[in-house]
Amino acid sequence: MTTVLENEIFKISELVKNQNFNFNKAQILNHLPEKYIEEAIDSIESWETYKPTPLHNLNKLNEVLKLNNIFYKDEGYRFDLKSFKALGGAFAVNKVVKDKKAKTVATATAGNHGRSVAWGAKRLGVNCKIFISEFVSESRADAMRKLDADVIRVKGNYDSSLKECIKQSTENNWEIVQDVSWDGYKEVPKYIMAGYSIMIKEIIDDLKNNSITHVFLQAGVGGMAAAAIAGFAKFYETTPKFIIVEPEDANCVLKSIKQGQPTSVDIVKESIMGGMSCGDVSTVAWEILKNASNYCLTISDRAIPSTVALLSEKKLSNEKIISGECGVPGVISLIGVCQNQNFKEALDLNSKSNVLLIGCEGLTDQILYNKLLNEGLEQIQ
Ligand SMILES: Cc1ncc(COP(=O)(O)O)c(C=O)c1O
Repeated sequence: MTTVLENEIFKISELVKNQNFNFNKAQILNHLPEKYIEEAIDSIESWETYKPTPLHNLNKLNEVLKLNNIFYKDEGYRFDLKSFKALGGAFAVNKVVKDKKAKTVATATAGNHGRSVAWGAKRLGVNCKIFISEFVSESRADAMRKLDADVIRVKGNYDSSLKECIKQSTENNWEIVQDVSWDGYKEVPKYIMAGYSIMIKEIIDDLKNNSITHVFLQAGVGGMAAAAIAGFAKFYETTPKFIIVEPEDANCVLKSIKQGQPTSVDIVKESIMGGMSCGDVSTVAWEILKNASNYCLTISDRAIPSTVALLSEKKLSNEKIISGECGVPGVISLIGVCQNQNFKEALDLNSKSNVLLIGCEGLTDQILYNKLLNEGLEQIQ
């Protein structure tokens, strides 16, 4: 095991300290107001099949890395959608149907957010239009069709699918439920983020103390990371270190932190971490991340198969953990940071550290999961 974890596939591509770090709870909760979080939690906790997702202890990984605890929030059990995304889109659909009497909702998606919107629409009996790029797999498209959504494939990348979604929605008066914000479109992304923050409440209910010292947060447009930080600002007394994790070819948060302003990335190579392969940080998320994130780091795709296999083979914990491509980046980053003594010291990771990792997705794409697992099993032999 130790030798597997020493492999250079876990190497961090880049680590950047946020020079503008200043964790201000009031400021954070000004951008994602507490009443949004409270409303989201009340609503989601009342849904028929709601139950908190498990928090695993990666005790075997901890024996090697010699920290105090490594917790892994397993969103693979989030309703039957198997990712934290189930919390955001569906709650926002709830809001626009209730408040704006929407009859048709629309969104552009890499997969999981669309499933959440489609699932929320089906629950409430409204129509749903989903726009996907040419890079979204057919199995993800099918998962949304099974939820009665009308799936529209658009030539080009995610940005092209979003443009087409906005165009058709404006023409047809559909309510857009998008997880990314732009000038003049901020309310719905805030509802979505408020939905995500229930993860943090559940973690705090589980741990019953304020012991978390480090949180690794995956980012695409940054909504999940900013929502988790807002969750800590609302529910936690102490302030852990927040480390943002992105694919090296889609590092829009890291670049923005470096520049001190939102900075686009032209994605030339799509990462396997499809949900995180985003070129622009959401403006609402940016308002939180620009000061509240301590560090940003990027990773390559290389360690994804091995990490999927290590989790599945109970090499990192006593339980078998089924994690998809966007579930493992926190684990990869923690291993990568601990391999590099300078990075480990910079982040102040030591035998007193209690680290939280978010297993953002489980078995959301069976075909891709099988491919990653088989590849990974060969690598960890
Ligand atoms: C499946 C999936 N989609 C998207 C994201 C990124 O979330 P956001 O776009 O809110 O930053 C993640 C985060 O890891 C994810 O797991």
